[in-house]
Amino acid sequence: ESTLGAAAAQSGRYFGTAIAASRLSNSTYSTIAAREFNMITAENEMKPDATEPNRGQFTFSAGDQIYNWATQRGLKVRGHTLAWHAQQPGWMQNLSGSTLRQAMIDHINGVMAHYKGKLAAWDVVNEAFEENGSRRNSNLQRTGNDWIEAAFRAARTADPSVKLCYNDYNIENWSYAKTQGVYNMIRDFKSRGVPIDCVGLQTHFTGGSSLPGNFQTTLSSFAALGVDVALTEVDVTNSSTSQYAGLTQACLNVPRCIGITVWGVRDSDSWRSSESPLLFDGNGNKKAAYTSVLNAL
Ligand code: XIL
Repeated sequence: ESTLGAAAAQSGRYFGTAIAASRLSNSTYSTIAAREFNMITAENEMKPDATEPNRGQFTFSAGDQIYNWATQRGLKVRGHTLAWHAQQPGWMQNLSGSTLRQAMIDHINGVMAHYKGKLAAWDVVNEAFEENGSRRNSNLQRTGNDWIEAAFRAARTADPSVKLCYNDYNIENWSYAKTQGVYNMIRDFKSRGVPIDCVGLQTHFTGGSSLPGNFQTTLSSFAALGVDVALTEVDVTNSSTSQYAGLTQACLNVPRCIGITVWGVRDSDSWRSSESPLLFDGNGNKKAAYTSVLNAL
């Protein structure tokens, strides 16, 4: 196959990218994005600060710009993200307790109603764990330890057809405490019937030649709990070809690894642009890492 999306589709998977609405008018950017990828994530435009700038007042103009651009080209869309300690609107940052808990539920209801039936998945909760495997201390956590399951239950009711994901970074190494913390939460959710369909591993790698320990074991272990897994925000310091090939192969080796998303198109578009971590250089040329991924798919 000659594109990442088509190559991934051969095994029933997708290959996606994050898109920034402000870059869509750049034709190099949008041409590559539409040609190579078949799943799109809004890099910032569907986050809480973007979609509910004032309490109870929802804005979907930038999110819809990405949604419409993607679906007009036959590309699917992942929703990112509904409940997170970061990129909260100012009014939400200042809330606590039952008021914040209700605001979170209202936010989930408001955003999910707008996109109901339209998205492939939602990252319902993002980055809720500390590196040591405990729950991250945030205003949401301080509303009570059940805030994550409350978010997932509200999400299932708001849009019963969309896949509901938990998404986090540094959960790729199976021996890492944070991975085990997330794993134990997912296992608990599945045992108690809390609605959850997928785990997103952000996969922000720092380079070198090998993958985080037992990466494939992490994917297969999550999958064995009865959830899909996806690599949701891939970027790799200096685009290590061995890491890019390895993470692609690991996903392909796990039947419930349903797709891979890179966190941007060209190096110059990346939030880590100084590390040149993506598959296209600043001029839109395919890098060696592109070929290593394509060959692995
Ligand atoms: C990043 C975006 O790429 C930046 O443009 C923004 O300034 C900050 O957020 N984990 C996530 C993503 O889940 O939403 C983050 O995206 C990167 C880390």
